[in-house]
Amino acid sequence: MSSTSLLALGLAFISSVSAGRHGYPQFGEKQFSQSFLDGYNLLKFTSSLGPYSDRVSYGVDRNTPAGCQVDQVFLLMRHGERYPDYSGFGSNYETVLAKMAATQKNDSSSWKGDLAFLNDWTYYVDDPAMYSQESYSGAYAGLADAYSRGTDYRLRYGHLWDKKSVVPIFSSGYERVIETARYFGQGFFGYNYSTSAAVNIISESATQGANSLTPSCPADPTYVSCLVGSFSRTMPELGVAAARFNSQNPGLNLTALDVSYLMQMAAFELNVRAYTPWAEAFTLDEWVAYGYIWDLMYYYCVGPGSDYQIAVGQVYTNATRVLMEAGPKSGSMFWSFVHDANITPVVAALGLDIPANPLPNDTIPFPNQYRVADIVPMGGHLTLERMTCNATVKSTAGIYVRAVINEAVVPFNACQNGPGYSCPLANYSSLIVDAAPRFDEKCNTSSSYPQYLDFFWNYNTSTQYNFQDGPIGYQLTDTNV
Ligand SMILES: *[C@@H]1O[C@H](CO)[C@@H](O)[C@H](O)[C@H]1NC(C)=O
Ligand SMILES: *[C@@H]1O[C@H](CO)[C@@H](O)[C@H](O)[C@H]1NC(C)=O
Ligand SMILES: *[C@@H]1O[C@H](CO)[C@@H](O)[C@H](O)[C@H]1NC(C)=O
Ligand SMILES: *[C@@H]1O[C@H](CO)[C@@H](O)[C@H](O)[C@H]1NC(C)=O
Ligand SMILES: *[C@@H]1O[C@H](CO)[C@@H](O)[C@H](O)[C@H]1NC(C)=O
Ligand SMILES: *[C@@H]1O[C@H](CO)[C@@H](O)[C@H](O)[C@H]1NC(C)=O
Ligand SMILES: *[C@@H]1O[C@H](CO)[C@@H](O)[C@H](O)[C@H]1NC(C)=O
Ligand SMILES: *[C@@H]1O[C@H](CO)[C@@H](O)[C@H](O)[C@H]1NC(C)=O
Ligand SMILES: *[C@@H]1O[C@H](CO)[C@@H](O)[C@H](O)[C@H]1NC(C)=O
Repeated sequence: MSSTSLLALGLAFISSVSAGRHGYPQFGEKQFSQSFLDGYNLLKFTSSLGPYSDRVSYGVDRNTPAGCQVDQVFLLMRHGERYPDYSGFGSNYETVLAKMAATQKNDSSSWKGDLAFLNDWTYYVDDPAMYSQESYSGAYAGLADAYSRGTDYRLRYGHLWDKKSVVPIFSSGYERVIETARYFGQGFFGYNYSTSAAVNIISESATQGANSLTPSCPADPTYVSCLVGSFSRTMPELGVAAARFNSQNPGLNLTALDVSYLMQMAAFELNVRAYTPWAEAFTLDEWVAYGYIWDLMYYYCVGPGSDYQIAVGQVYTNATRVLMEAGPKSGSMFWSFVHDANITPVVAALGLDIPANPLPNDTIPFPNQYRVADIVPMGGHLTLERMTCNATVKSTAGIYVRAVINEAVVPFNACQNGPGYSCPLANYSSLIVDAAPRFDEKCNTSSSYPQYLDFFWNYNTSTQYNFQDGPIGYQLTDTNV
């Protein structure tokens, strides 16, 4: 529940019990809390690997401004909470856990200190087939996240469905992404999902060129080395945690990198279970350092620190701009499902979340202007709204655009003069055209591949991919069904 609606509930409750003769509450609890504990919420430091949390808002009302109506909506959503991949993730966790187990007598009291919980903790991947899949258990389950986003969006945007048309849902061709699209669709369409939604699967292959939700940029010279380097990055605070665990448990010989893997593993545990005892094994300061490791990765490898990646994001910002200019006659709902690293380039191409200076590699900037937990946690999403608005004292009647990231409105720096800090469509269009280098010019995609995005206009209304047909393959990732 958002803080706004909690507040509304609280006010309604207070007024029902203690409304004074002026009609508003005069006694009782503080109207507004004076503590602000969200800064300590671990979900803001579990990086892109932990469960969804709403973005820290600027206070701008998420609801459509008075006098406006959303007439087109574009959702670009990451898959929901999931199990780790095996390669590069789960394999490392299994190695560290085995290394740890080898140092202790295997009885019920061997682990000491901050790791005492290990005496009865078990690794949560009990079936290796589940590596890479969307999670289905616990309070933060990915399938539940996708479904409930669908029900929430039905309430917000249900007026855009004419209750007749078959509506496409676009998913990149990756098992967990497709499942997210399907569960979102079931949440949104309810009893009408099987006949009124049409899941369109867009292959992740580079041969799709620009006709993709996940475009590749062959010209990006450092993409692979940037990612590889990031996976072995540590921070001094992680070495402090390693030394603490080692001194509490003689024989244990953890490194800072081992600790980084354990913190990743802890973040993923919440995707499967409601509680991870690892959360408290590390200090808050260690979690802050851990979170920043991932901020650096996204910023430099797939975010505003890379011109090539901003150009990748331009494919989506351009196609959606063209649709906004054409208006609802070319479709009023565009539901698209992808991965984290396909959303951060788009956010950068919109000119949002661009730090004033490149992120420092060896110190953490406070405040940190690029927090991936606020952009692409599991289930993270960017929602663009085209609104038709009546005139106000502040703005003329017309068409306006807003960006919402993880349910918080994020105004464009250079254009926020519309209702609800929105941007007039004409200004938005020129901002989008100017903000990012062009994909076709920057990325050197083969001329034999599609040069522009076409599927938003030419989609299938077949429902053949709406449901998983049979068991999901062992650790299935890329797939087109
Ligand atoms: C805009 O104004 C017209 C005329 O007053 C009114 O009928 C309409 O409901 C208004 N639109 C919104 C979204 O408030
Ligand atoms: C510890 O003992 C349990 C039960 O006997 C066994 O299943 C497990 O594999 C053992 N772990 C290690 C690391 O030896
Ligand atoms: C949507 O589902 C309801 C409930 O089954 C049904 O009455 C209605 O006709 C369906 N609408 C469409 C367009 O299929
Ligand atoms: C639509 O279906 C046709 C025939 O099955 C296929 O060739 C095409 O790739 C599909 N397009 C999309 C966007 O799914
Ligand atoms: C662009 O790609 C072609 C091959 O498709 C290659 O020969 C050329 O060097 C590339 N140019 C740049 C700038 O990456
Ligand atoms: C701990 O591991 C390091 C390498 O990571 C090694 O150099 C050192 O000898 C090990 N110490 C013990 C006590 O095993
Ligand atoms: C941080 O490191 C990356 C390479 O990993 C480098 O490209 C970038 O310039 C560095 N940032 C700063 C502020 O030094
Ligand atoms: C918006 O566009 C109008 C017309 O092109 C222009 O006059 C105005 O300066 C622009 N405003 C902003 C904030 O970009
Ligand atoms: C923008 O997208 C449209 C539709 O996909 C395409 O025709 C056009 O070439 C694109 N323009 C740019 C600058 O990318």
